[in-house]
Amino acid sequence: MSSTVDKIIITFIGFGHMGRAFLKGALSALPGAHFMAVDPALDLNDPPADFRETHNVTFANDPSEAPEYIRRSALFVFAVKPQNAKEVCAAWKSYIAKEAAFLSIAAGITHAFLARQLREGQPVIRAMPNLASAIGKGIAGAHANAHVSASQRVLADRILKAGGPVLWVDREEKIDAVTAISGSGPAYYFYVTEVLAEAGRSLGLGAEESEILARQTAIGAGAVLEEFPDVPPGEYRRRVTSPGGTTAAALEILMDGALEKILKRATKAAAARSAEMGEESS
Ligand SMILES: NC(=O)c1ccc[n+]([C@@H]2O[C@H](COP(=O)([O-])OP(=O)(O)OC[C@H]3O[C@@H](n4cnc5c(N)ncnc54)[C@H](OP(=O)(O)O)[C@@H]3O)[C@@H](O)[C@H]2O)c1
Repeated sequence: MSSTVDKIIITFIGFGHMGRAFLKGALSALPGAHFMAVDPALDLNDPPADFRETHNVTFANDPSEAPEYIRRSALFVFAVKPQNAKEVCAAWKSYIAKEAAFLSIAAGITHAFLARQLREGQPVIRAMPNLASAIGKGIAGAHANAHVSASQRVLADRILKAGGPVLWVDREEKIDAVTAISGSGPAYYFYVTEVLAEAGRSLGLGAEESEILARQTAIGAGAVLEEFPDVPPGEYRRRVTSPGGTTAAALEILMDGALEKILKRATKAAAARSAEMGEESS
């Protein structure tokens, strides 16, 4: 590791689905940095295939394997399960310099919790990506506490952008709403796709036929929204709804208010659960 003495060091705590996805993106976003990926589940003799050719990643199972090096990290990416957060913070605290930035993507883990587990004054960024972040098609909401410097925020932003756009919010409470809309959101679209496929079956299509139609329609609608980001979704809906046509016949039922009410109820429940998880972890 001697050649990395002058490089900025970024340490990933937890190298599961999210840790791997964000490190993969960070490797191209920050080619001059050196990365540590620390996870007890890693097989050090057989690192994940995506990282075998990279020379600027060091793998470890425990921070005690490279303590001095880890202590020089400018930023830690915290990507372990929320239920492990307390014990992992306790094990890591002595390796995290007081001025190092801590970027947590753990659901429901609050600034207050991290201040207690690490230290008051630790620069912390709390972010909420989503499932699609693992393939670069997600979105993350992020909030920085008052101790995060402008350059730490830029660094965190570059790492989070590996998963898709980053929306910085001005109040931590908004992370609960981010969780309800985009954090949990992919599951809502999967459910709508399931229900649409089910509806196709009740119209006489085979299970496979119906699923392929519903799935590809979700992919196509998403791709159109991606291709033309300046056109509001409602505008597209109007464009494809000819008066008196088939889409109009369906939307007359879909837009009777019931779906809107249900989505508002569902996202309210998700936001409340996110806040509750924050309190449970505190
Ligand atoms: N997946 C998503 O769609 C998604 C979306 C938004 C936010 N998140 C958040 O992202 C975080 C990570 O999720 P994930 O899906 O990547 O989970 P994951 O695949 O389970 O990865 C977590 C990794 O952390 C490891 N770990 C456990 N204890 C550790 C320790 N002491 N030191 C270092 N690593 C340790 C786990 O090892 P073991 O398996 O051996 O325990 C596991 O490999 C979670 O907090 C989750 O809330 C995930």
